[in-house]
Amino acid sequence: MDKRFIYNTFILCFLAMTSIAQNIQLPAPQKDGGKSISYCLQNRKSTKEYSAKKLSDQQISNILWAAYGFNRADKRTVPSAMNCQEFTLYVFLPTGIYRWNDKTNELVQLAKGDHRNVAGKQDYVALAAMNIVYVADYLKMESIDANSRSNMAYADCGFIAQNVYLQCASENLGCVIRGYVDKDLLTKTLNLKSTEHVILSQSVGGMK
Ligand SMILES: Cc1cc2nc3c(=O)[nH]c(=O)nc-3n(C[C@H](O)[C@H](O)[C@H](O)COP(=O)(O)O)c2cc1C
Repeated sequence: MDKRFIYNTFILCFLAMTSIAQNIQLPAPQKDGGKSISYCLQNRKSTKEYSAKKLSDQQISNILWAAYGFNRADKRTVPSAMNCQEFTLYVFLPTGIYRWNDKTNELVQLAKGDHRNVAGKQDYVALAAMNIVYVADYLKMESIDANSRSNMAYADCGFIAQNVYLQCASENLGCVIRGYVDKDLLTKTLNLKSTEHVILSQSVGGMK
């Protein structure tokens, strides 16, 4: 076989492999065990200094399930105004940006590479192992008066964030919820529709 043909085939295969999105199938979340609710409440706190340690897929799965997973066939670990369930969770890891498919527990890769700094304006954001961006689709909130949608989305997001705080306390991880984000940049980066709104962002990672 011609050397040039082999070389070109190799390059094409390499390009194809590196351009294919690398989704992550997370393990099933651990739904029992963990620390007591009193321990988690006693240890809940915001962390703004993070170690370089990565999170395991199991830790990511546990955190996302606590945040917004299903605990019944069609309802979740958090309440939701008028049961609109308007949130999508976007996950920023050192390996890329992902949309969490809450039904299959898969992280669907949207972009490769480390874009953690896009998830907030403060220095610690890019150092935290994971940043979650909470996006509400107001199209799913049509049963709520248009003037109240934003208030309800922020209220719903508070429950999500608090679950992450408690799960992090249980796993001895740090986290902090954040309103200080560049919403325009996130909207562009995540290619959001006009009905989708960035509400808050939350950093999670090992504590220093
Ligand atoms: C709605 C909301 C928005 C917040 N926004 C930010 C933020 O943009 N940046 C930040 O570093 N911390 C943010 N925080 C975290 C607060 O700074 C933190 O909760 C507060 O200092 C109390 O500390 P504690 O959570 O350890 O009790 C926010 C907290 C809430 C509830």
